[in-house]
Amino acid sequence: MAKIHTNAFPGFFLTSLGPEFLADYYKSAIHDSSSHGIGLWDRGALVGFAIGYPDSRAFYMRLLVRRFHKWAYHGLRILLRHPTAVAHLLTSAFFGRTEETVSKPPTYILLASIAVDAPHLSAAGTTLLKAWEASIAIEHDFRGIFLTTDKSNNSRAIHFYTKNGYRQTEQFTTRKGRTMIRFEKELAS
Ligand SMILES: CC(C)(COP(=O)(O)OP(=O)(O)OC[C@H]1O[C@@H](n2cnc3c(N)ncnc32)[C@H](O)[C@@H]1OP(=O)(O)O)[C@@H](O)C(=O)NCCC(=O)NCCS
Repeated sequence: MAKIHTNAFPGFFLTSLGPEFLADYYKSAIHDSSSHGIGLWDRGALVGFAIGYPDSRAFYMRLLVRRFHKWAYHGLRILLRHPTAVAHLLTSAFFGRTEETVSKPPTYILLASIAVDAPHLSAAGTTLLKAWEASIAIEHDFRGIFLTTDKSNNSRAIHFYTKNGYRQTEQFTTRKGRTMIRFEKELAS
């Protein structure tokens, strides 16, 4: 997952924290009781994944508390290399993700991350998204999905969500000046 994330999200904040951090982040994410993840496999190799959770603030808090020693280690390492990144991480943990609005209907789940390894792109993303939607619809009581994504230089993802039935409900600018689009999709009841 860390490798796929690194290739799929170059220049993103989490990517800048390095593969070791990403590996621990995703290991914790898939073991969290509230997360819903699914993998796309090709001949035994993971080539894509989608993961989400209903409450990002609670999710980050649990991650921080459960594996505090790991995050303390990463925090120290990151502090030495990128001092401002630690403030960003703590803000995310205590106040929810800074990139997204936290307001949402309580029965909606956040699609936090979806990515496909480049050689497998072209329809693989839609296969993965539909499988993830089906898994949360069958096993859980969510009424809908929400997510945020960049507005600029992101036409592929914007087209991808639009063609898969997501509608733009909001635009906002993060503290770092990124313009984000919020998408939502209701699940059939
Ligand atoms: C988003 C992602 C999962 C989609 O996977 P995918 O396999 O490309 O998905 P699909 O092929 O089903 O859909 C992509 C659509 O975008 C279109 N597309 C490709 N490049 C495009 C571009 N530059 N601008 C607009 N549309 C584009 C494709 O033609 C396709 O549409 P179509 O089926 O109508 O022809 C994948 O591109 C990815 O991993 N991206 C990097 C990570 C990312 O951006 N994740 C989402 C951000 S929240």
